[in-house]
Amino acid sequence: MQKLDMIYEGKAKKVFQTDDPALVIVDYKDDATAFNGEKKGTISGKGVINNKLTNFLMQKLEQAGVPTHFVRELSDRETLVKSVHIVPLEVIIRNVSAGSFAKRYGVEEGIVNDSPTIEFSYKNDALGDPLINSYHAVALKLATPEEIETIKKYAFKVNDVLKAFFLECGINLIDFKLEFGKLPDGAIVLADEISPDTCRFWDSKTGEKLDKDRFRRDLGNVEDAYQEVLRRVMG
Ligand code: TMP
Ligand code: ASP
Repeated sequence: MQKLDMIYEGKAKKVFQTDDPALVIVDYKDDATAFNGEKKGTISGKGVINNKLTNFLMQKLEQAGVPTHFVRELSDRETLVKSVHIVPLEVIIRNVSAGSFAKRYGVEEGIVNDSPTIEFSYKNDALGDPLINSYHAVALKLATPEEIETIKKYAFKVNDVLKAFFLECGINLIDFKLEFGKLPDGAIVLADEISPDTCRFWDSKTGEKLDKDRFRRDLGNVEDAYQEVLRRVMG
């Protein structure tokens, strides 16, 4: 597999073309940003951890019946994935109140939802990724109603699988963000990453935060938290 030109550089990853038009290579960086890029930093070793964790979890989800873009890990930081058209929606599932949910609705963090919630943000940095509902997404032609139904079904399935799995690792899965892609045949697959950058993980005994909130909120021991998640998940 030949790594060709870079076709996209995001805040945490680069994407490269390959000699197969159906496949691209994702290359994970140590760069970290928060608050729509206002806060910038480096989390040393993050790219390697997020690559390994994402690939492990994507394979677990495939086995549970959620199709993903994953093809194979190429190196510590590089993974071969199917080339998709990213649906410009951030799909957020919440099991426990935290972050923007707690702030927006004026509740404390840590209140357990009776059942998980789902919400969508329009992936648009210039607009600050505004919260939208499924009708807005259809009106903006970001996805069809059928695609949104599929995305919802997969997102809740991801939650069922990951919530149970992380609990076995002593981690409470508070909330997370997913992105989906569309293959040339129109099929929807899980894309992007699943990592401490995109999930909130709280130690199930102590409540200690083991995710990017340590960076966002200057809590210290950021690298240690990422390492600890990798250790608990992959041994
Ligand atoms: P929020 O509470 O800030 O809306 O975040 C909800 C979840 O989504 C949390 O697990 C962090 C993740 N997330 C991202 O992956 N990317 C983002 O740009 C934001 C704002 C949140
Ligand atoms: N990565 C996002 C940004 O830079 C935000 C976040 O994860 O908090 O805006």
